[in-house]
Amino acid sequence: MCGIIGFCRTSEMWVAPSLDSAAPVVPLVGAMHQTLIANHAAGISVPIASPLVLEGLRRLEYRGYDSAGIASVDNGSLLVRKDIGAIAEVDALQQLGLMPGTIAVGHTRWATHGSVTQANAHPHTDMAGRVVVVHNGIIENYEELRDGLHAEGIVFRSDTDSEVIPQLFARELGDGCATLEEAVRLVCPRLQGPYAFVVLSAHDGGTMIGVRKGNPLVVGFSDHGVFLSSDVLAFSEHARWMVSLTDGEMAIVTSSGVRFLNPDGVEVVKIPSMVDCVWADVGRDGYGHYMLKEILEQPSVVSRCGHGDNDLLVDAALAILGARQVVFTACGTSRHASLIGRYFFSKVARQFSDVVMASEFGYFAASLNSQTVVIAVSQSGETADVIAGVKLAKEAGARVVSVVNRPSCVLAEMGDYLVKLGCGAEIGVAATKTFTGQISLFYLLAHAMVNKLQLGRSNLEQAGILLHELLQGLGDGLEPLALRLRDREHLYYIGRGVNFAVAMEGALKMKEISYIHAEGMPAGELKHGTLALIEKGTPVVAICPNDETHAETISNAMEAKVRGAYVIGVSDVESRVFDHWIRMPAVSSLLYPIIAVAPLQLFAYHMALARGCDPDRPRNLAKSVTVK
Ligand code: M6R
Repeated sequence: MCGIIGFCRTSEMWVAPSLDSAAPVVPLVGAMHQTLIANHAAGISVPIASPLVLEGLRRLEYRGYDSAGIASVDNGSLLVRKDIGAIAEVDALQQLGLMPGTIAVGHTRWATHGSVTQANAHPHTDMAGRVVVVHNGIIENYEELRDGLHAEGIVFRSDTDSEVIPQLFARELGDGCATLEEAVRLVCPRLQGPYAFVVLSAHDGGTMIGVRKGNPLVVGFSDHGVFLSSDVLAFSEHARWMVSLTDGEMAIVTSSGVRFLNPDGVEVVKIPSMVDCVWADVGRDGYGHYMLKEILEQPSVVSRCGHGDNDLLVDAALAILGARQVVFTACGTSRHASLIGRYFFSKVARQFSDVVMASEFGYFAASLNSQTVVIAVSQSGETADVIAGVKLAKEAGARVVSVVNRPSCVLAEMGDYLVKLGCGAEIGVAATKTFTGQISLFYLLAHAMVNKLQLGRSNLEQAGILLHELLQGLGDGLEPLALRLRDREHLYYIGRGVNFAVAMEGALKMKEISYIHAEGMPAGELKHGTLALIEKGTPVVAICPNDETHAETISNAMEAKVRGAYVIGVSDVESRVFDHWIRMPAVSSLLYPIIAVAPLQLFAYHMALARGCDPDRPRNLAKSVTVK
């Protein structure tokens, strides 16, 4: 996945609609323009766009961080600077924030097509350098398009799918008869696969056009100009108002303002909404890493979930309860949360459900129908596998409950029912607080199904308080444990019932940020193969709170211990099988996952630090995976 941003200083300022009405935005023509004219007369140079684009890229860096670049238009010429490395490294080499021009686009890349090289970094231009594109997504038919252009003598500089876009635009622009808008309208129907892009042309002092199909693109209005970006985070410091483009819509930005066209090319008025300030709050608050900050935010996430919108929750709960089959679909951490949701639905509401990992969902689609409810769970709301599954579900007539954290995302638009987590922006690539938010929400949904929402809420409130107390004292024990185990090559995590997905999640955190092989499994499965791998000193983490699973999980841990394992117990009760005890408070049995996951996240965090890894930027991973 990649981050894209464009910014154009405009001569129009946008007046916000009144807060109590959906009044359309009124462009106040000329205010900014007057300032620019006055500045010009006073000999003050017009402010440049590149610093704002660079700042936006820094805020998008969690979406990809292998290369970056900016292009701007100055005096009718296109300038492009790009390189491999993190944004700070590219900026140090290329002085990205000093590029002249009042209009600029930028990109931070996570490689999919084409390795990490300077040539493959965005922005990409056509052969003659007339248009420049930043792109997120995959052009699935790029080979065919590339071959066609190649046959016409067009030379490509990169190995990316993205480069076909500017080359096609330039071809349609021809000798200058067509406008960029016309070129975009001719080219878009030829591009297969999901995409969002921003194209900038040097013509007419600079025109910037953004289009999306499948991948998100939002427009932000600031006092200084208009932003286009794949994520509201990129401009949330500067813009208070925003609109999301829908599939096929086009935003055309010039120095005199912005216009919106629908997929038929008809101009439309879009009603902006306020930029959500909680989401916009992305500082590290003095913590060394976002991951640590986000782990410590979990108590407030749990309590915030307890104060969510009743009506949305009850609507979704009734749909789930009334369905013949209920299927969760999700990837990674969101899938682990779904596995816990499945236990909640069964235990609290006696509703059976299944969890199908999103990358496999398509192979089950034959059994979906109008009696099915699909619960699509995704922090980002952008994961390609989840979106593909939801499309299939909708085609089969199933109803979809979207559970997302990012407020403006593709999955939110696709659901028949929408449940928002409200965890605020999660920047660390390793998901932490959104896992806790997801399971808190499933806990409430299960209670809403049996008309016990209030009980669910007060239980969550209690769990949030206990989690807060636990987090206060945890670091002291986990840091030395990490130092002791940092050179181990394998770790195993076991748990039963509602705790087994916590074991899987603990193992996922360990591998993704500390690069140690870790496996999580139901404790009962250990003896069906994995036990062969236990040697003297192999760490086995047993999640064994004092619930119905306790005794059997302890027995499984003992089976490992007698074969030499170093057993780390996560429990509210001590056991002689533990070599190290991570003590957690007692809660009502279904709430243990909310409490038990935090020590495992912190253990992985300290392990990453002990091994010299950056927990916020694990190698080879991006925050959202927008390719299949
Ligand atoms: O945005 P999503 O919840 O759909 O993302 C799913 C996975 O890509 C994500 O949970 C991934 O596994 C995280 N890096 C886990 O920490």
